[in-house]
Amino acid sequence: MAMLHQFKISDGQVTYRSRFLRSDAYTKNHEQDRIVMSEFGTLAMPDPCKNIFQRFLSHFEIQSKPFSFFVAEPTDNANVSFVKYKGDYCVSTETNFIHKVNPENLETLEKLDWTKFIAVNGATAHPHYDPDGTAYNMGNSYGGKGAMYNIIRVPPEKTNDTDTLQGVKVLCSILPKEKSHPSYYHSFAMSENYVVFIEQPIKMDLLKIVTCKLRGKALNEGIYWDPKQETAFHVIDKHTGKISSLTYHTKAMSAFHQINAFEEDGFLMLDMCCSDDGQSINNYRLQDLRKSGEALDEVYNTLSRAFPRRFVLPLHVTSDTPLGQNLNTLPSSKATCVQISKDKVFCQHEDLHGDDLHSYGGLEFPQINYERYNTRPYRYFYGCGFRHLVGDSLLKMDLKDKTLKVWHQSGFYPSEPVFVPSPDAREEDDGVILSVVVTPSQDKGTFLLALDAKTFEEMGRAYVSVNMAYGFHGTFNTSA
Ligand SMILES: [Fe+2]
Repeated sequence: MAMLHQFKISDGQVTYRSRFLRSDAYTKNHEQDRIVMSEFGTLAMPDPCKNIFQRFLSHFEIQSKPFSFFVAEPTDNANVSFVKYKGDYCVSTETNFIHKVNPENLETLEKLDWTKFIAVNGATAHPHYDPDGTAYNMGNSYGGKGAMYNIIRVPPEKTNDTDTLQGVKVLCSILPKEKSHPSYYHSFAMSENYVVFIEQPIKMDLLKIVTCKLRGKALNEGIYWDPKQETAFHVIDKHTGKISSLTYHTKAMSAFHQINAFEEDGFLMLDMCCSDDGQSINNYRLQDLRKSGEALDEVYNTLSRAFPRRFVLPLHVTSDTPLGQNLNTLPSSKATCVQISKDKVFCQHEDLHGDDLHSYGGLEFPQINYERYNTRPYRYFYGCGFRHLVGDSLLKMDLKDKTLKVWHQSGFYPSEPVFVPSPDAREEDDGVILSVVVTPSQDKGTFLLALDAKTFEEMGRAYVSVNMAYGFHGTFNTSA
């Protein structure tokens, strides 16, 4: 169940608190004293049909009542990330439900439902923000026209104390390459003027998902990796909602988290953590995670590592643009982009790392100085190295010469690094990196780690005498 953790740094002291999110899922499970609500990775026994992808089924429940007898309610156990809409802090997973929380004491406030405002069946846990607070997100819909990917926008301010999600709009809808087999996505990219949706070949066979119980199959049978299909980048003007008639393709790959995206001299630079294999989505199952020793190593060894890559997308392609030649004229990047037909450009990435990153198991959970450098040219990103199933090092990449700085201590597992700028920061990396470090070898050995973001030297640790689970995403805010 989602547990919210908070480290408060004030007057030279660090205090810690945690609270379970009081979701309906939490309440129901608590009343029964066992898991009765199915989750993304949890099977509420004895029903074999309920598992990680039930969120995609909510449509069938709403639209097609006959199906509802075997379709579960989407969960409201929002355990993936903290997000912000109209200045309100919320916690999110990928269903239609999010919860507003009080950032001061982590109390659960109201439950919000995207479907009350727009026709989407959920939204990602990774919205992007304009400097004025406008939020962009993406969610699927499964209406009469079949599955659609939707770009949504939440205005920055409340008018007359209205609901947090009041005023949300669907900016545009994109047809999946195959209507009954839309792609799974965990996030998307945003530059100053564009939203980029990455349609990757991790596919959902909606018919298989819906009929799994009748066929006595587990739900994840309906999720598959199709390496024969290319990955497509769809570019959308975020001011007008217009979808580019040109699509950008690359070979099959999977990507969970974007690093940054920005426009430069008529090109859109798209930086993200990519794997060559999308099969691994099925390897984070509870039955696998419960293994230990060699069996757990075996699970880990089947996972494909993620590495940071840059794609360069030419924005001004016309009927005069020559086919078959590399259009990337930027001396700063070795990525290539070749127009191969009227409406298609094929891209090949540039690695945003040197060979040394292999020895850290690649990089995931990327973070940047978001406030000042998101959608802009930038030099640094941070992340976790993954030599295990969870992060086991903290990394800083300098894009100028692709060199790494590393924090690592054997047996310690740091969470996603959160960059906090210095109050009067002038340089991009003037600030600190915060990360929550857990260790299974020491009872109650959890600590908040602070690194100097510039040097990656350790500045201090604040120990808390609790055992904490390894978490996904964190955020930093200042309050009076
Ligand atoms: Fe994520």
